[in-house]
Amino acid sequence: MSIETLAELEALKAAGRAAAEVMEGMRAAARPGVTTAELDGVGARAMARLGARSAPIRDAGFPAATCISVNDCVAHGVPGPRRLRSGDLVNVDVSLELDGFYADTGASFTVGAPSELAGRLCEAGRQALHSALGSIRSGGRLNRIGLAAERTARAHGFTVIRDLCGHGLGRALREEPSDVFGYYEPRDLRRLPEGLVLAVEPFVSSGAEETRVDDDGWSLRTTDGALAVQFEHTVVVTDRGALVLTVPEPFLVEAT
Ligand code: CO
Ligand code: CO
Repeated sequence: MSIETLAELEALKAAGRAAAEVMEGMRAAARPGVTTAELDGVGARAMARLGARSAPIRDAGFPAATCISVNDCVAHGVPGPRRLRSGDLVNVDVSLELDGFYADTGASFTVGAPSELAGRLCEAGRQALHSALGSIRSGGRLNRIGLAAERTARAHGFTVIRDLCGHGLGRALREEPSDVFGYYEPRDLRRLPEGLVLAVEPFVSSGAEETRVDDDGWSLRTTDGALAVQFEHTVVVTDRGALVLTVPEPFLVEAT
């Protein structure tokens, strides 16, 4: 959606704040010995307390409230009996609906002490999202998002996953524009209208460029077993930059 009223912006800010709160609660609870199902329960209870509903359950028929993806699992990991161990690289993706508006956020982190590679990968992933957000400005080309993300990943010696994309959202979890690529697509001539709501979510990997669906029908794993991270924020396109909503207090990443 493109925001047209202040009431819509306020409602999206509330959804974004709720998603950030659920994410922080789950991150704090992700300790060695905790199962991914227990971690999902922390997220589900936080959503209930905030009056929000899980978008994966509501919109995608996903079997849990949040996606928890460990190590070579990149996205859509199904919470279950797996116990987190020190050194595991975990991605938590929280998407929810609050009063008819959607927000989507994700982050990767290690449980316990990170390996050297996982630490570098997380730092590169955070920077890839930040530079992608810094490429956003109303009237600008949408493909600058992928250009910035891919450049940052490559500067760190890493790859980007090419078959997973960001997306528009707002009144639903997935709206137009679809295919907000995390890599540079020169044939993509779309421009960003003022007020557009986007989930920007580059995936950075230690070597993979593609994923495959696991036997469980949901989990997406790297084809070569490489590690991957994802960082995601829901933002509003403005003439000065990207207004980040999936945080405790919205802030602007100024266009560079
Ligand atoms: Co997400
Ligand atoms: Co998303």
